[in-house]
Order: sequence, then C-alpha cells, then structure tokens
Amino acid sequence: MCGIVGYIGDYRKTKQVLLEGLSRLEYRGYDSSGLAVLDNNQTSVIKCKGKVSDLQKKARKEKLEGQLGIGHTRWATHGIANEVNAHPHTSGSTSVVHNGIIENYAELKAQLQKSGFEFVSDTDSEILAHLIESGLAAAMSFEDSAREAFKKVEGACAVAAVTQKEPGKLIVLRNFSPVVIGLGENEKYIASDIPAIISRTNRIIYLQDGDMAVIEKDQIHITDLEGNRLQREEVLVSSDPASFEKGGFKHFMLKEIYEQPRSALDTIRGKISADHRGIELESIKPRQFSKIKKIIALGCGTSYHACLVGKQLIEDLSRIPVEVNIASEFRYSNPIIDKSTLVIVVSQSGETADTSEALLEAKRLGAKTLAITNVENSKISRESDHVIYTSAGTEIGVASTKAFTTQLIVFYILSNVLGASKGVISEAALSANVKSLVSIPLLIEKILKLDDRIKELAQKYNSFNNFIFLGRGLNFPIALEGALKLKEISYIHAEGYAAGEMKHGPIALVDENVPVLFIAPNNGINFQKIVGNLREIKARNGLVIFLTSENGADEYKEYIDDLIEIPGCDYNISPIATIIPLQLLAYHIARIKGTDIDQPRNLAKVVTVE
Ligand code: BG6
Repeated sequence: MCGIVGYIGDYRKTKQVLLEGLSRLEYRGYDSSGLAVLDNNQTSVIKCKGKVSDLQKKARKEKLEGQLGIGHTRWATHGIANEVNAHPHTSGSTSVVHNGIIENYAELKAQLQKSGFEFVSDTDSEILAHLIESGLAAAMSFEDSAREAFKKVEGACAVAAVTQKEPGKLIVLRNFSPVVIGLGENEKYIASDIPAIISRTNRIIYLQDGDMAVIEKDQIHITDLEGNRLQREEVLVSSDPASFEKGGFKHFMLKEIYEQPRSALDTIRGKISADHRGIELESIKPRQFSKIKKIIALGCGTSYHACLVGKQLIEDLSRIPVEVNIASEFRYSNPIIDKSTLVIVVSQSGETADTSEALLEAKRLGAKTLAITNVENSKISRESDHVIYTSAGTEIGVASTKAFTTQLIVFYILSNVLGASKGVISEAALSANVKSLVSIPLLIEKILKLDDRIKELAQKYNSFNNFIFLGRGLNFPIALEGALKLKEISYIHAEGYAAGEMKHGPIALVDENVPVLFIAPNNGINFQKIVGNLREIKARNGLVIFLTSENGADEYKEYIDDLIEIPGCDYNISPIATIIPLQLLAYHIARIKGTDIDQPRNLAKVVTVE
C-alpha cells in the first residue's frame, strides 16, 4: 500500500521533511514516488518511477522551497508503475496524494470528463484533484470543496491535499487507511505511519475513520464529513529511532532476524507469575473467556501461519476448538458466530485491511474479539475488545520475521492461560511450560549461531527454481512459512506441505532438481511418521535437507543430503526454533541472487486495501 506525508511550517524544512518521511515509509510501496511544494502562489511538483532514492537525486537539483508540501510513495493498484501515474496528481491549483482504492472511480471519472476535466494518468486517485478543483472553481472554500469531494468517493482513502488558492492550509482525510498528525511549534506534520515523522515529533494525533483535518501551521480543526467538529486527543509516542536504522546490518531483515532473542524476551517480560510457576496476561483475565465455546483465528500472510500454529497450541493446552481462516476469505464466508465465539485477529501492523474488515464483520455478528498485534493504537487494536501486544519493536523488512516468532510466543502464553483457567493443564505441566517459555530467548540465540552453516547451504541451493518444505503437526505451518519467506525475497517458487500429504499428489513434483526441506524436530509425536516420508522422497531421488534437533538424524544419514541440527526443546515451542534457520536460508539465498531483500518486488509491508 502507499505512504503519504505532508508538512506545513518552515519553508526551508519542507523538502527535507517530505523526503525523509517518504524514505521511512518506503516499506509501504516503492513503485514510484513524488512530492509537491507550495510557495505562496506556485506549486512545484517532482515525481519519478522507482525508489525514493531516485526522487532524492532528482530533488537535489531543485530548490523546492515553500511553507507547505505533500509527498507519496506508491504501491500500484490502478495504472502501471511509471512517472505519469506517480503521485501527487494535480488539477488546476490543486494537488493531492492518495493511499487506498476509489471503488466508484469509473463513474466519477465519466462525470468529471463530461464536465471537461482531462485525465493524464490511469490512476483512480487523480479523480480527487479534479473533484476538489471543481468545487474551488464553483467558488467553494478549500475546506468545503475537499469535504464534498471526499463525500463522493467510496472505498479506502487516506488523502492529503493542498491548493494555491489557500496556500496556508493542508487538508487530510482518513477513511479506512491510516493517517496520523504530528504536532510541532508553528509547524505540523501528517503521515500514513509514525516512522515517517517520529524523528521530528512524538506528539501525535491518531485520526479515526471518517475524520477530516484542516491543518494550518499554528492550528488544526478536525470534523467529520458532515462538518461536525471532533476532538481527538494528543498522544505522546515513545519510539526508538534506532529501530529505523540498520544498526550495522546489511539489511533490516537480517537485523530483525538477529533481534529475535530480544523481541522474545520483551514479549515474555511480565507474563511469568511471581512464583515462577504460572503464566499470566496483564490485559486479559481468564474469566473474561469463561463462556467461550469456540475460537476463530484470522490473519493474512505470515500472521495467518501464526494462527495455524496457535490453533494447535490452544486446542492441545485448553481443549477449546479453534477454526483458522484466511482473513480475506472470512468476511465473505457467512461465518457461524455467536456471543460464545472468540475471534482472534493477528496482525503485525494492525492495519491490514483484509484483517481489519474481517474483525469488523466478526464484531457485527456478535463475537468477542481479541487482537494480537505489534503496533499500539493501530486500527485493529483500537477496534478489538481485548489486545495482546507482541513486543517485537518496529519491523521494517517487508518479509516478517521477529513479529512471527513473537506471535507464536503470545499464542503459547494465551494457550497456557486458557488451559490453566479451565483446569486442563496441571500445576506440574504449567511450571514445566514456564521453563519452556523462559528458555526461548537463549534457544534462539543458540540457533542464530548456525548462520554460517546456513550460508553454506544457500551457496549450494540458490540456483534451484523450485523448493518443497515439509512438516507435520506444529511444524506444518512452519513449512508454509519457510516456503513463504523464500518466495517473498528470492522469488524462487516454493511450496509448503504437510509431509503426510505428499504421497497424495505433490510427490509427483519430486526429482533430483527439487530440494525438499524437512522440518522434523525429533521431539514430536509424529517424528517416526516424518521419517517414513523422508524415505518416500529419497526413493524418488529427491534432494533432502533435514532440519532436526540434536541426534535426530543419526539413524537416517543415508536419506539426507544436508543436515541442519538445532538444539532440542519442548515440542510446543519447536516452531519458534525451527523457523529461524528457514528465515536465514531465505535471506542468504536472496542475498546471493541479489534481490531487493527489504523491499521485494510487488510486495508491501502493510496492505490497507482489500
Ligand atoms: C503483507 C506483508 O503485506 O501482509 C507480510 O508483506 C505480512 O509480511 C502480511 O505477513 C500481513 O500483515 P500483518 O501486518 O497484518 O501481519
């Protein structure tokens, strides 16, 4: 999805603030970028195809001074990635940047063309510039023109608009796509997300859906789309600027992989009872879920894979039945929900539209809702009845790593809390689980020491075009996640399967050109079954990489081409261990292939359109 920024204040700072903000929002889309700077009676617009770094090069040659400006980095939805379709879009005196999709754009475009507006781009967003300009042309004020324009568009919309007719105002709309306002002395900032402006101010106003703000350098007023005044509180946001730096690592992804011992520690902190025999959640009292008869877990991408692990942990440790749904399917599946249903929505960003819309549908149908998210004050955390935050810190790499392992940790904690409250877990088992939980940060640290071994494997396997990942039980979702990581950043076609399912079809894919990576910690109830699958694959000359825990492969060396041995751990936390070598393998293969690891093609970190 796109990133938008805006600034009003000191004319010397505008260009720098916009470019800095855009480079911090690039994880939201990097197909093209642009900015517009207003200097009293003229607007200078520069845009280009590709990365913000290309825009920075272009901007270096331009003066671009002015008290007001807006900027955009794009993830293409309507119209290919080129300079014409890059934002800002202008119409007469008006310039706009937009994040979202205008669902009724064809009808509005036809109306505007009938009234003489000419479209230069293939985007839906250009409509907003023409709509606002048509209001101004009809002698309406900028505020009224913008409001009328916003009322006409349907769909997810975050917009920032400026006009030469009122060069002291920046107008923004938040409708299903996030926008925050940053407060400064005699200057104001707007952005799709905090990272864009946190180095400039930590005084933040979170706009809600349907909010429109008219921003001047020394004042703001916020209304709904009917013009009714709204109050939105200012929040002081703490954020560690270092999390936006690579900290000596070549890529954010590698940095975030290496941050997992700490993010695990931060997520576990405060969850162990004082006597070290229990697991507890500050934000949730188990009695709040005593009437829950069914759980539905929802998410997208990596968060969906976390739900698949969560299902098995909750069912095993609390005996509450769990259904897992892909969030984009859930909303349109006429789900069976009543007030004894708990819907758990999992989202790193807390802003993914497919997941937030599924959440709103679950609420509409009367479910209790719980969010597992990494971002405070995100839409999903605000809209849910209960929230458990993962403490992964800011995740910038588009391929999710540390957020995933902290989501698994939260599911393990939640399963124990529910299981203990229902008396399913004995005291002895619970204190054993406490030991497993606190062992996770050190376990991850030990596994990161395998990095050189994984680099060797990447050297050997980076030229294959197809990969298969196999797992059973809790590690079947890890096969899916391992395959996703490789797909996301190395563009190699990879599939994850339940190992037992191979013989019912996918085994037809196996030959000496397809590496098959088994995820088989030897502590699972199904280890012997997966050894059977290993023999089936080797019998068809498959190339086998076997990820297991210590000595797990001793008897089966003849079937294994390459071994990855991780330290032993409790089966229920094994997915947290087994995913780390797969994150590293995908990273090192992508590094050899020279792909754009932090900003892989066609992807974005937060997708705020359905
Ligand atoms: C995709 C990201 O856009 O959204 C993935 O590229 C992520 O990494 C998925 O797993 C879901 O995002 P979130 O923020 O809802 O967990």
